[in-house]
Amino acid sequence: MFITFEGIDFCGKSTQAELLKSYLVKNKKIVEIIREPGGTEISEKIREMLLDKKHYHMFMETEIFLFSASRAQLVREKIRPYLEKGVYVISDRFHDSTTAYQGFGRGIDINTVVHINNLAIGKTVPDITFIIDIPVKVAEERKKIKTKIDLDRIEISDSVFYEKVRKGYLKLAENEKRFRVIDGTANIEDIHHRIVGEINMLEKRSIHETR
Ligand code: TMP
Repeated sequence: MFITFEGIDFCGKSTQAELLKSYLVKNKKIVEIIREPGGTEISEKIREMLLDKKHYHMFMETEIFLFSASRAQLVREKIRPYLEKGVYVISDRFHDSTTAYQGFGRGIDINTVVHINNLAIGKTVPDITFIIDIPVKVAEERKKIKTKIDLDRIEISDSVFYEKVRKGYLKLAENEKRFRVIDGTANIEDIHHRIVGEINMLEKRSIHETR
């Protein structure tokens, strides 16, 4: 099963990805967790380039190709081989981040984004995607706790940008069945239980369908 977590920065998706991993491992599953951009030697180098604040003058076209290049490598080097072996793959962000951030956020034409995403991932589409949704105001509050020095090149973006990204995610969720929008303002345990419930339901359904 290929599971992805999405949402605006500070939504809490990384915590939920880790909690889900622990749950699955406790249930005797083999699990690999990866983060995007990153996850391979080449992809981690691209991550550094993308998030470095010194690169404030990076053009959005450069940005989308770098995110997609990092993902193209990760998909072929790690994700596909894991899935072929029956490993559960949890990814902290995937191609929907590109649609939300570079498409809806930066304003790159959505059809172009879809083409670039297709080239990067091919048929490796997640089975289920959790969008941990929080209002931008809540994200701003959480961001204040982090010192300015720690913020990366994208995290320093303003609330207008994040409003567009959030709306983009919610729009995506309307169009494809694999999305589950989860209220990220609920407490961590409740969010985790909701996610586990969705995974168990999906698993029951796929067992039923393969019979
Ligand atoms: P992270 O903070 O979740 O590790 O993600 C790094 C940043 O990169 C985050 O601000 C979201 C952004 N991002 C994009 O803009 N497009 C993408 O395709 C991905 C994967 C991340």
